[in-house]
Amino acid sequence: MGDFETVIYEKRDNVGYVTLNRPQALNAYNLKMRDELYQALGAIEDDPEVRAVILAGAGERAFCAGADLTEFLTAPPPVAARQVRWERDIWGLFLGMTRPLIAALHGYVLGSGVEMALCCDIRLASEDARFGLPEAGLGIMPAAGGSQTLPRSTGPAAALDMLLTGRWLDAAEARRLKLVNRVVPRPALLPEAERLAHRIAGHSPLAVSHARQAVNRGLEMGLEQGLELEARLARALLNRP
Ligand code: COA
Repeated sequence: MGDFETVIYEKRDNVGYVTLNRPQALNAYNLKMRDELYQALGAIEDDPEVRAVILAGAGERAFCAGADLTEFLTAPPPVAARQVRWERDIWGLFLGMTRPLIAALHGYVLGSGVEMALCCDIRLASEDARFGLPEAGLGIMPAAGGSQTLPRSTGPAAALDMLLTGRWLDAAEARRLKLVNRVVPRPALLPEAERLAHRIAGHSPLAVSHARQAVNRGLEMGLEQGLELEARLARALLNRP
């Protein structure tokens, strides 16, 4: 797993560390990164030792400054179309993960960076983080789930404010709007993410997985169906061999 170009994958103490690694381009998300994320997340899914995952960005300046504009807006139409499809796939890929993901967000968190963060279960931000969806200004729109995941976190009004105006949020406002769970000083970002990951890794993987399913699948259901799902998952935990 050591030979990726755009992603670093490491594993320590039951925690997987996935780091977006194009700091010279503010970790902009390109097709290579998409492919390598696919492989890294796939390796995690195949590895029962990994019980929680931290997603972070390399370098001082950014978690991810969005889709790579040199590839995206200049690519010929078939490639652009493929990119849109792949961005959708990455949403499915993240959401299909059976291990919980913690996003550690610093610096620029733009476009696909916001969308990747929204695919994670818990979002931590450092005080210097800046969030924005510049797509409308570029004549495009989020295509990695953002138009659906953002309002599920912030509610529709705040989501539409970000989506339609392209206005950036600082970390404090992102916290107020429920885009992130918590804001910490920059030096505390990774240690705090690790603290949470280790807490999760210390719990029963099945209990963690069922709680996660109850919330994520239940959100798509009416209350009655959601309660049935909860009961089913809780029973399955009690009845396990
Ligand atoms: N795609 C490709 N390269 C990008 C990038 C992106 N989305 N964002 C930044 N980079 C590159 C820059 O081209 C620059 O490369 P260079 O040093 O080879 O010239 C490097 O990262 C540093 O960025 P730079 O623009 O010089 O830093 P800055 O501090 O002046 O500005 C931003 C930072 C984030 C405001 C600015 O880079 C930006 O607006 N990026 C695009 C954001 C965006 O629209 N994303 C797409 C969403 S769909």
